[in-house]
Amino acid sequence: MAIPFIDLGAQRERIGAAIEAGVKRVLDHGAYIMGPEVKRFEADLASFAQSKHALSCANGTDAIELILLALGVGEGDAVFVPSFTFVATAEVVPMTRAEPVFVDIDAKTYNIDPVKLEAAIEVVIKEGRLKPAAIIAVDLFGQPADYPAIAKIAEKYGLPVVSDAAQGFGGTIDGKQSLNWAKATATSFYPAKPLGCYGDGGAVVTNDEALLDRLISYRVHGGATAADAANFAHEAKYLNVRIGMNSRLDTIQAAVLVEKLAIFAEEIELRQAVARRYNAGLEGFVTSVPYVKAGFISTWAQYTIEHENRDGLQAALRDKGIPSAVYYPIPLHQQPGYAAFTSGPRDLSVSEAKSKTVISLPFSPYLSAETQDEIISAVKAFA
Ligand SMILES: Cc1ncc(COP(=O)(O)O)c(C=O)c1O
Repeated sequence: MAIPFIDLGAQRERIGAAIEAGVKRVLDHGAYIMGPEVKRFEADLASFAQSKHALSCANGTDAIELILLALGVGEGDAVFVPSFTFVATAEVVPMTRAEPVFVDIDAKTYNIDPVKLEAAIEVVIKEGRLKPAAIIAVDLFGQPADYPAIAKIAEKYGLPVVSDAAQGFGGTIDGKQSLNWAKATATSFYPAKPLGCYGDGGAVVTNDEALLDRLISYRVHGGATAADAANFAHEAKYLNVRIGMNSRLDTIQAAVLVEKLAIFAEEIELRQAVARRYNAGLEGFVTSVPYVKAGFISTWAQYTIEHENRDGLQAALRDKGIPSAVYYPIPLHQQPGYAAFTSGPRDLSVSEAKSKTVISLPFSPYLSAETQDEIISAVKAFA
């Protein structure tokens, strides 16, 4: 049987019956939009995320954009983002009319480098064209960004930290999730994510009540918050006080997520064992195996190694029927669509170097030892 890059089938075998029963309940009651499962899932998610509030939305990209909008980020603002990430992290910034400022990454964790972050803030202040407005930290491949260090810098410059935990939702630092340091955390339920649904989905978690009100408003067409609508006699959603979007999580997806979230903590544990086994098999045979900082727990959205002849390794694996992926072959500051955004330091050499050597291997909490050995042997044979 072909090895899948991300095996969704094994999990479906385990909880498929419960998911199907949940979906059937939605089909029976027919509240496809904002039905009871959405509320139930948001409550479960807040409890899992150690947060006061959770707000579901249509996808992870919208989740980040909703946070920026709710923070009031807009024209003339600079938002600091790592250059080595999925494009959605930066894409949402010009959607608010602000500009992304690209920051280089740490060579071992692939996450935004706090020292370079502070340097970038200083450069933008000196340039004088943009006003620093927010920092988006990304938990690349599942490892939380260095939130304690980032939060210190954020505090020094009075900037909110937004956590893009699309890959690392559920990851922890000394037992605490990113919201412990961030104003709000965004995640994605894209099917291949550690916590995914069976379509598109996303969420924001936050402890900030006023931010939540604005998030709710922006999520559905900029409808009035309770405060906005104090003197409005009709449904609040028909008083539109800001330009919003339509970004709701389908009730059917919420029903799927209720079941998946129930086993997510256990799956994060299973993921640690799979990663440890890969490390033990590959250490010394490739340029690097993943480095996770002491006290940090990764959710292992990807298991990513480095090899000097990355493209050769990928071809050799392909010949043996083993899928792999390159996240990401071009850092964002070199993407044609982002050429206009040149504020901040232009030395992004770590991002550029990593884009040439990283390669991610098949990963799932249910990866069998037998299949994993086959993958490890194939990598070793090439190395
Ligand atoms: C780091 C990061 N941010 C944001 C997103 C966007 O999530 P979605 O595809 O649900 O819009 C992703 C998903 O691939 C991601 O990996």
